Amino acid sequence: MYVCICNAVTDKQIRRAARQGAESVSELRERLGVASNCGSCADQAREILDHCSERRTKPRLYVPCPA
Ligand code: FES
Repeated sequence: MYVCICNAVTDKQIRRAARQGAESVSELRERLGVASNCGSCADQAREILDHCSERRTKPRLYVPCPA
């Protein structure tokens, strides 16, 4: 899904950048151009980054599938 329409940046590209160490919208702007034009994508880009960093920092919990 496109997050930054102005620069045709997708959520997958943002997740990949996060895995490669991007931790802020500023870093996404430098790497991908996110939020470098109208800026309306900044909040959603931040949410994706936050989600990725939570997954990196929280231990995985084993949740069994319901029978
Ligand atoms: S939608 Fe990202 S800068 Fe406009």
